[in-house]
Amino acid sequence: MTNGDRIERLYRTGDLPDEELSALLVSLDQKEFEHLCERACEVREKVYGKEVYLRGLIEFSNYCRNDCYYCGIRKSNRLADRYRLAEDEIVACSDAGYELGFRTFVLQSGEDLSYTTADICRIVSRIRSRHPDCAVTLSIGEKSRSEYQAYYDAGAERYLLRQETSNPVHYRKLHPPGLSIENRKRCLYDLREIGYQVGCGIMVGTPGQTPEYIIEDLRFMQKLDPQMIGIGPFIHHKDTPFRNQPDGTLQDTLHLLAILRLMFPHILLPATTALGTIHPLGREMGIRAGANVVMPNLSPRGVRKKYLLYDGKICTGDEAAECRACMERRIAATGYKVVVSRGDYRA
Ligand code: 5AD
Ligand code: FES
Repeated sequence: MTNGDRIERLYRTGDLPDEELSALLVSLDQKEFEHLCERACEVREKVYGKEVYLRGLIEFSNYCRNDCYYCGIRKSNRLADRYRLAEDEIVACSDAGYELGFRTFVLQSGEDLSYTTADICRIVSRIRSRHPDCAVTLSIGEKSRSEYQAYYDAGAERYLLRQETSNPVHYRKLHPPGLSIENRKRCLYDLREIGYQVGCGIMVGTPGQTPEYIIEDLRFMQKLDPQMIGIGPFIHHKDTPFRNQPDGTLQDTLHLLAILRLMFPHILLPATTALGTIHPLGREMGIRAGANVVMPNLSPRGVRKKYLLYDGKICTGDEAAECRACMERRIAATGYKVVVSRGDYRA
């Protein structure tokens, strides 16, 4: 099979055998890549048209009890300048976001146990009752099933938790003992069963990642059947054990985005901040490769520079309103259109 055949078969059937996927992952020339993107855009437009959805990201705490080797807010990083937003500040961010046209808020933090289950539930339900036409997404890490159930009952309908890698050996290279892929997967299946719209995902180009591991991730995602898949390049952070590791590349990330769109035609697929960090037009290129979501920062200006998962992170200085206008222009330039909508999954 040629790469052209592989792309056409993936486009027609949404799947390929492992060997063919592997070939597609490692060897695409520029022309073949353009062919892949054309098909990815066609599939995306069949489901979502030209619409691109906004998620307002509220990074409410950078305290974390975990110690992932890649992450700038890991607990061992003594140089991280820690902050926590108060409940009223978080709610105020959602109010400001609402005025700017956001209809989805993503509450993200490190695994900070100083917010109790009751605190998170109260924050979620306050935002939902002030803005009944909005969705609240949580991205706060590994919890017990009963905690996930409590957030859901309080009105959180979506949850983001990347598996980072589905392979147990690779997982242990990226995380210290104490974190396991088994528990990560348990969380994802619990979230699905409870009824959340679930987002999983991986970093591209993490140390030790191989095409075989990426295929294992694709197979895991086929089983999980998520509504969102978040991927972005790994980017080193100078105060972590991975400080000297090479970053993931633009091309590998775009490539995987397009393959994901063909394998999961209905998926909500963000062009991530990390993608915008490794190239000034990375997010626009992500949209052209099949992505249909962008997640501008709604965190208060004063804390943005502190939520530093990796070096060089963009959008850490702008006001929320500037980010919103900037995104609108950038997406319009790609021929797509930012819409004021919750941007729910279309089955
Ligand atoms: N480079 C890129 N992405 C990172 N994340 C964490 N650290 C890094 C890094 N150094 C991603 C992880 C996590 C998400 C919130 O941010 O995939 O799930
Ligand atoms: Fe916080 Fe990894 S360092 S979840």
